[in-house]
Amino acid sequence: MTGLIERYRERLPFAPEDPVVSLGEGSTPVVLAPALSERVGAEVWCKLEGLNPTGSFKDRGMTCAVSAAVREGAQAIVCASTGNTAASAAAYAARAGLRCVVIVPEGKIATGKLAQALMHGARVIALRGNFDVALKLVRELASTHPIALVNSVNEFRIEGQKTGAFELAEALDSELDALCIPVGNAGNITAYWRGFEELGLRPRMLGFQAAGAAPLVHGTPVEHPETVASAIRIGNPARWEDAMNAMTASGGAVRAVSDQQILSAYRLLASTEGIFCEPASAASVAGLIAHGAGDARRVACVLTGHGLKDPGTALGEAGAVLSCDPDLASIERAVLE
Ligand code: F0G
Repeated sequence: MTGLIERYRERLPFAPEDPVVSLGEGSTPVVLAPALSERVGAEVWCKLEGLNPTGSFKDRGMTCAVSAAVREGAQAIVCASTGNTAASAAAYAARAGLRCVVIVPEGKIATGKLAQALMHGARVIALRGNFDVALKLVRELASTHPIALVNSVNEFRIEGQKTGAFELAEALDSELDALCIPVGNAGNITAYWRGFEELGLRPRMLGFQAAGAAPLVHGTPVEHPETVASAIRIGNPARWEDAMNAMTASGGAVRAVSDQQILSAYRLLASTEGIFCEPASAASVAGLIAHGAGDARRVACVLTGHGLKDPGTALGEAGAVLSCDPDLASIERAVLE
Protein backbone atom coordinates (compact mmCIF):
# COMPACT_ATOMS: atom_id res chain seq x y z
CA MET A 1 0.00 0.00 0.00
CA THR A 2 1.38 3.42 -0.87
CA GLY A 3 1.50 6.02 1.88
CA LEU A 4 -0.41 9.26 2.00
CA ILE A 5 2.20 11.61 0.63
CA GLU A 6 2.65 9.47 -2.44
CA ARG A 7 -1.10 9.05 -2.85
CA TYR A 8 -2.10 12.70 -2.45
CA ARG A 9 1.13 14.51 -3.31
CA GLU A 10 -0.54 17.08 -5.57
CA ARG A 11 -2.71 18.20 -2.63
CA LEU A 12 0.12 18.19 -0.05
CA PRO A 13 3.10 20.53 0.43
CA PHE A 14 5.69 18.02 -0.82
CA ALA A 15 7.66 18.05 -4.07
CA PRO A 16 8.57 14.79 -5.85
CA GLU A 17 12.23 15.03 -4.74
CA ASP A 18 11.42 15.61 -1.05
CA PRO A 19 12.26 12.88 1.47
CA VAL A 20 9.26 10.81 2.52
CA VAL A 21 8.99 9.00 5.86
CA SER A 22 6.07 6.60 5.55
CA LEU A 23 4.74 3.44 7.17
CA GLY A 24 1.96 2.94 4.62
CA GLU A 25 -0.56 5.05 6.56
CA GLY A 26 -4.04 6.02 5.37
CA SER A 27 -6.40 4.12 3.05
CA THR A 28 -8.35 2.96 6.11
CA PRO A 29 -11.70 1.19 5.76
CA VAL A 30 -15.05 2.99 5.71
CA VAL A 31 -17.64 0.47 6.88
CA LEU A 32 -21.40 0.66 7.19
CA ALA A 33 -22.73 0.27 10.75
CA PRO A 34 -26.12 -1.43 10.32
CA ALA A 35 -27.20 -1.61 13.97
CA LEU A 36 -26.22 1.99 14.59
CA SER A 37 -27.91 3.13 11.38
CA GLU A 38 -31.12 1.45 12.48
CA ARG A 39 -30.88 3.01 15.91
CA VAL A 40 -30.39 6.60 14.76
CA GLY A 41 -32.48 6.47 11.58
CA ALA A 42 -29.69 7.46 9.19
CA GLU A 43 -27.09 5.63 7.13
CA VAL A 44 -24.05 5.59 9.41
CA TRP A 45 -20.54 4.84 8.19
CA CYS A 46 -17.48 4.38 10.38
CA LYS A 47 -13.99 5.40 9.31
CA LEU A 48 -11.67 2.94 11.02
CA GLU A 49 -8.64 5.06 11.78
CA GLY A 50 -7.40 2.47 14.25
CA LEU A 51 -6.16 0.55 11.21
CA ASN A 52 -3.35 2.99 10.60
CA PRO A 53 0.19 1.65 11.23
CA THR A 54 0.39 2.74 14.87
CA GLY A 55 -3.33 2.30 15.51
CA SER A 56 -4.59 5.88 15.27
CA PHE A 57 -5.28 8.75 12.86
CA LYS A 58 -2.15 10.53 14.09
CA ASP A 59 -0.09 8.66 11.49
CA ARG A 60 -1.68 10.75 8.72
CA GLY A 61 -0.28 13.91 10.24
CA MET A 62 2.94 12.31 11.42
CA THR A 63 4.11 11.12 7.99
CA CYS A 64 3.91 14.76 6.88
CA ALA A 65 5.35 16.34 10.05
CA VAL A 66 8.30 13.95 10.20
CA SER A 67 8.98 14.10 6.45
CA ALA A 68 9.05 17.90 6.69
CA ALA A 69 11.31 17.73 9.76
CA VAL A 70 13.78 15.56 7.81
CA ARG A 71 13.60 17.95 4.84
CA GLU A 72 14.44 20.82 7.22
CA GLY A 73 17.41 18.92 8.63
CA ALA A 74 15.98 18.34 12.12
CA GLN A 75 17.80 15.88 14.37
CA ALA A 76 15.07 15.47 16.94
CA ILE A 77 11.32 15.78 17.36
CA VAL A 78 9.23 16.44 20.44
CA CYS A 79 5.55 16.39 21.37
CA ALA A 80 3.15 16.62 24.29
CA SER A 81 0.62 13.85 24.16
CA THR A 82 -2.26 12.00 25.73
CA GLY A 83 -0.69 8.91 24.13
CA ASN A 84 -1.44 8.46 20.45
CA THR A 85 0.65 11.34 19.16
CA ALA A 86 3.50 9.98 21.28
CA ALA A 87 3.17 6.48 19.81
CA SER A 88 3.00 7.81 16.27
CA ALA A 89 5.86 10.30 16.69
CA ALA A 90 8.03 7.57 18.22
CA ALA A 91 7.38 5.18 15.32
CA TYR A 92 8.01 7.71 12.55
CA ALA A 93 11.10 9.04 14.33
CA ALA A 94 12.46 5.50 14.59
CA ARG A 95 11.81 5.04 10.88
CA ALA A 96 13.59 8.31 10.06
CA GLY A 97 16.50 7.81 12.45
CA LEU A 98 15.59 10.89 14.50
CA ARG A 99 15.62 11.28 18.26
CA CYS A 100 12.17 11.52 19.78
CA VAL A 101 11.04 12.88 23.12
CA VAL A 102 7.44 12.63 24.24
CA ILE A 103 5.90 14.32 27.26
CA VAL A 104 2.82 12.67 28.67
CA PRO A 105 0.63 13.30 31.71
CA GLU A 106 1.88 10.93 34.40
CA GLY A 107 -0.35 7.92 34.96
CA LYS A 108 -2.96 9.17 32.49
CA ILE A 109 -2.12 7.46 29.22
CA ALA A 110 -3.37 4.07 28.06
CA THR A 111 -1.01 1.09 28.42
CA GLY A 112 -0.75 0.24 24.72
CA LYS A 113 0.33 3.76 23.81
CA LEU A 114 3.01 3.80 26.48
CA ALA A 115 4.30 0.42 25.29
CA GLN A 116 4.49 1.72 21.72
CA ALA A 117 6.40 4.90 22.58
CA LEU A 118 8.90 2.94 24.67
CA MET A 119 9.35 0.13 22.13
CA HIS A 120 10.05 2.63 19.35
CA GLY A 121 12.82 4.06 21.48
CA ALA A 122 11.38 7.44 22.39
CA ARG A 123 12.43 9.14 25.58
CA VAL A 124 9.21 9.16 27.56
CA ILE A 125 8.84 11.89 30.14
CA ALA A 126 5.94 11.55 32.57
CA LEU A 127 4.88 15.04 33.57
CA ARG A 128 3.31 15.75 36.92
CA GLY A 129 0.75 17.87 35.16
CA ASN A 130 -1.90 17.47 32.47
CA PHE A 131 -1.73 17.63 28.66
CA ASP A 132 -2.37 21.37 28.53
CA VAL A 133 0.61 22.08 30.77
CA ALA A 134 2.74 19.65 28.74
CA LEU A 135 1.83 21.36 25.47
CA LYS A 136 2.62 24.80 26.85
CA LEU A 137 6.03 23.58 28.00
CA VAL A 138 6.98 21.84 24.73
CA ARG A 139 5.96 24.90 22.73
CA GLU A 140 8.38 26.96 24.82
CA LEU A 141 11.06 24.29 24.52
CA ALA A 142 10.76 24.01 20.74
CA SER A 143 10.88 27.78 20.29
CA THR A 144 14.29 27.99 21.96
CA HIS A 145 15.93 24.71 20.88
CA PRO A 146 16.50 23.07 17.48
CA ILE A 147 13.83 20.44 18.00
CA ALA A 148 10.85 20.04 15.66
CA LEU A 149 7.48 20.22 17.43
CA VAL A 150 5.10 17.61 15.97
CA ASN A 151 1.87 18.42 17.82
CA SER A 152 -1.06 19.57 15.70
CA VAL A 153 0.04 23.19 16.08
CA ASN A 154 2.45 22.04 13.33
CA GLU A 155 0.77 22.84 9.97
CA PHE A 156 2.08 19.65 8.37
CA ARG A 157 0.02 17.61 10.84
CA ILE A 158 -3.18 19.30 9.66
CA GLU A 159 -2.18 18.90 6.03
CA GLY A 160 -1.68 15.17 6.47
CA GLN A 161 -4.85 14.65 8.47
CA LYS A 162 -7.04 16.41 5.91
CA THR A 163 -6.58 13.30 3.76
CA GLY A 164 -9.12 11.54 6.00
CA ALA A 165 -11.75 13.79 4.41
CA PHE A 166 -10.48 12.92 0.92
CA GLU A 167 -10.82 9.22 1.62
CA LEU A 168 -14.33 9.62 3.05
CA ALA A 169 -15.39 11.57 -0.03
CA GLU A 170 -13.97 8.84 -2.27
CA ALA A 171 -15.63 6.04 -0.32
CA LEU A 172 -19.04 7.76 -0.18
CA ASP A 173 -19.07 9.33 -3.67
CA SER A 174 -18.90 12.78 -2.07
CA GLU A 175 -22.33 12.28 -0.53
CA LEU A 176 -22.08 13.01 3.16
CA ASP A 177 -24.44 15.15 5.24
CA ALA A 178 -22.70 15.12 8.62
CA LEU A 179 -19.40 14.12 10.22
CA CYS A 180 -19.24 13.06 13.88
CA ILE A 181 -15.79 13.42 15.38
CA PRO A 182 -14.27 13.48 18.87
CA VAL A 183 -12.54 16.72 19.81
CA GLY A 184 -9.54 16.99 22.10
CA ASN A 185 -6.82 19.39 21.02
CA ALA A 186 -9.10 20.16 18.05
CA GLY A 187 -6.56 19.42 15.30
CA ASN A 188 -8.47 16.63 13.62
CA ILE A 189 -11.77 18.47 13.19
CA THR A 190 -9.76 21.37 11.79
CA ALA A 191 -8.04 19.02 9.35
CA TYR A 192 -11.22 17.28 8.17
CA TRP A 193 -12.88 20.63 7.52
CA ARG A 194 -9.87 21.81 5.53
CA GLY A 195 -10.04 18.61 3.46
CA PHE A 196 -13.76 18.95 2.80
CA GLU A 197 -13.40 22.63 1.92
CA GLU A 198 -10.68 21.81 -0.60
CA LEU A 199 -13.12 19.41 -2.24
CA GLY A 200 -15.99 21.90 -2.15
CA LEU A 201 -17.99 19.73 0.29
CA ARG A 202 -19.86 21.00 3.34
CA PRO A 203 -20.96 18.19 5.63
CA ARG A 204 -22.15 19.43 9.04
CA MET A 205 -19.21 19.12 11.39
CA LEU A 206 -20.45 17.68 14.70
CA GLY A 207 -17.71 17.75 17.32
CA PHE A 208 -18.03 15.86 20.59
CA GLN A 209 -16.12 16.42 23.81
CA ALA A 210 -16.19 14.45 27.03
CA ALA A 211 -18.39 16.24 29.57
CA GLY A 212 -15.53 16.60 32.06
CA ALA A 213 -13.23 18.01 29.37
CA ALA A 214 -15.52 20.19 27.27
CA PRO A 215 -13.98 23.67 26.99
CA LEU A 216 -15.44 24.34 23.55
CA VAL A 217 -18.91 23.49 24.79
CA HIS A 218 -18.56 25.81 27.81
CA GLY A 219 -16.71 28.49 25.86
CA THR A 220 -13.96 28.62 28.47
CA PRO A 221 -10.87 26.53 29.27
CA VAL A 222 -11.24 23.72 31.80
CA GLU A 223 -8.42 23.77 34.32
CA HIS A 224 -8.74 20.19 35.55
CA PRO A 225 -10.17 18.12 32.68
CA GLU A 226 -11.31 14.60 33.62
CA THR A 227 -12.70 11.75 31.54
CA VAL A 228 -12.37 8.01 31.07
CA ALA A 229 -11.47 8.83 27.45
CA SER A 230 -7.87 9.72 28.33
CA ALA A 231 -7.01 10.64 24.73
CA ILE A 232 -9.30 13.68 24.89
CA ARG A 233 -8.61 14.70 28.47
CA ILE A 234 -7.77 18.23 27.34
CA GLY A 235 -8.93 21.53 28.81
CA ASN A 236 -7.53 24.16 26.48
CA PRO A 237 -7.36 23.02 22.84
CA ALA A 238 -4.64 24.56 20.67
CA ARG A 239 -6.90 24.64 17.59
CA TRP A 240 -9.81 26.25 19.43
CA GLU A 241 -10.60 28.95 16.85
CA ASP A 242 -10.13 26.70 13.83
CA ALA A 243 -12.43 24.08 15.32
CA MET A 244 -15.16 26.59 16.16
CA ASN A 245 -14.87 27.98 12.65
CA ALA A 246 -15.30 24.50 11.14
CA MET A 247 -18.46 23.91 13.13
CA THR A 248 -19.93 27.36 12.52
CA ALA A 249 -19.11 27.48 8.81
CA SER A 250 -20.59 24.02 8.21
CA GLY A 251 -23.75 24.59 10.26
CA GLY A 252 -22.54 22.02 12.79
CA ALA A 253 -22.16 22.13 16.56
CA VAL A 254 -19.99 21.09 19.48
CA ARG A 255 -21.63 19.08 22.24
CA ALA A 256 -20.69 17.13 25.34
CA VAL A 257 -21.15 13.43 26.07
CA SER A 258 -20.85 11.89 29.53
CA ASP A 259 -18.35 9.14 30.32
CA GLN A 260 -21.31 6.81 30.70
CA GLN A 261 -22.54 7.64 27.20
CA ILE A 262 -19.01 7.18 25.83
CA LEU A 263 -18.61 3.77 27.47
CA SER A 264 -22.01 2.65 26.35
CA ALA A 265 -21.23 3.56 22.70
CA TYR A 266 -17.83 1.85 23.12
CA ARG A 267 -19.52 -1.41 24.18
CA LEU A 268 -22.23 -1.08 21.54
CA LEU A 269 -19.72 -0.74 18.71
CA ALA A 270 -17.75 -3.75 19.91
CA SER A 271 -20.72 -6.01 20.63
CA THR A 272 -23.07 -5.16 17.76
CA GLU A 273 -20.86 -3.85 14.95
CA GLY A 274 -17.70 -5.87 15.59
CA ILE A 275 -15.72 -2.64 15.82
CA PHE A 276 -13.28 -2.20 18.69
CA CYS A 277 -12.20 1.41 19.05
CA GLU A 278 -10.78 3.25 22.01
CA PRO A 279 -13.05 5.21 24.38
CA ALA A 280 -12.22 8.66 22.93
CA SER A 281 -13.18 7.41 19.48
CA ALA A 282 -16.53 6.19 20.76
CA ALA A 283 -17.35 9.78 21.76
CA SER A 284 -18.30 10.38 18.11
CA VAL A 285 -20.89 7.59 18.20
CA ALA A 286 -22.03 8.52 21.71
CA GLY A 287 -22.66 12.04 20.43
CA LEU A 288 -24.60 10.80 17.43
CA ILE A 289 -26.77 8.61 19.64
CA ALA A 290 -27.31 11.29 22.29
CA HIS A 291 -27.77 14.36 20.10
CA GLY A 292 -28.64 13.01 16.65
CA ALA A 293 -27.47 14.56 13.39
CA GLY A 294 -30.51 16.66 12.50
CA ASP A 295 -32.06 15.62 9.21
CA ALA A 296 -28.82 14.09 7.90
CA ARG A 297 -29.44 11.08 5.70
CA ARG A 298 -25.85 9.91 5.57
CA VAL A 299 -23.44 10.32 8.48
CA ALA A 300 -19.81 9.33 9.01
CA CYS A 301 -18.22 8.76 12.42
CA VAL A 302 -14.45 9.01 12.71
CA LEU A 303 -13.23 6.19 14.96
CA THR A 304 -9.88 7.70 15.71
CA GLY A 305 -7.99 4.93 17.52
CA HIS A 306 -7.92 1.16 17.97
CA GLY A 307 -9.47 -0.52 21.00
CA LEU A 308 -6.27 -2.45 21.70
CA LYS A 309 -4.62 0.82 22.68
CA ASP A 310 -6.41 0.74 26.00
CA PRO A 311 -6.79 -2.83 27.28
CA GLY A 312 -7.30 -1.59 30.83
CA THR A 313 -10.56 0.20 30.07
CA ALA A 314 -11.73 -2.68 27.87
CA LEU A 315 -11.23 -5.30 30.57
CA GLY A 316 -12.95 -3.07 33.09
CA GLU A 317 -16.01 -2.84 30.84
CA ALA A 318 -16.13 -6.35 29.43
CA GLY A 319 -17.67 -9.55 30.77
CA ALA A 320 -15.81 -12.10 32.88
CA VAL A 321 -13.65 -14.97 31.66
CA LEU A 322 -14.98 -18.45 32.58
CA SER A 323 -12.53 -20.79 34.27
CA CYS A 324 -12.94 -24.49 33.47
CA ASP A 325 -11.59 -27.88 34.57
CA PRO A 326 -9.95 -29.90 31.77
CA ASP A 327 -12.61 -32.61 31.25
CA LEU A 328 -15.48 -33.01 28.80
CA ALA A 329 -18.30 -32.70 31.33
CA SER A 330 -16.94 -29.40 32.60
CA ILE A 331 -16.39 -28.14 29.07
CA GLU A 332 -19.95 -29.14 28.15
CA ARG A 333 -21.32 -27.23 31.09
CA ALA A 334 -19.19 -24.20 30.34
CA VAL A 335 -20.04 -24.14 26.64
CA LEU A 336 -23.69 -25.06 26.66
CA GLU A 337 -25.15 -23.55 29.81
N1 F0G B 1 -9.28 10.44 19.41
C1 F0G B 1 -8.10 9.94 19.80
C2 F0G B 1 -7.96 8.46 19.87
C3 F0G B 1 -7.02 10.80 20.10
O1 F0G B 1 -5.86 10.27 20.46
C4 F0G B 1 -7.21 12.19 20.03
C5 F0G B 1 -6.13 13.12 20.37
C6 F0G B 1 -8.46 12.66 19.61
C7 F0G B 1 -9.47 11.76 19.32
C8 F0G B 1 -8.76 14.11 19.48
O2 F0G B 1 -8.14 14.66 18.36
O3 F0G B 1 -6.77 16.36 19.51
O4 F0G B 1 -7.10 16.42 17.05
O5 F0G B 1 -8.98 16.96 18.58
N2 F0G B 1 -5.03 12.77 20.86
C9 F0G B 1 -3.88 13.66 21.07
C10 F0G B 1 -2.66 12.86 21.50
C11 F0G B 1 -4.17 14.84 21.87
O6 F0G B 1 -1.78 13.42 22.16
O7 F0G B 1 -2.56 11.69 21.14
P1 F0G B 1 -7.71 16.20 18.37
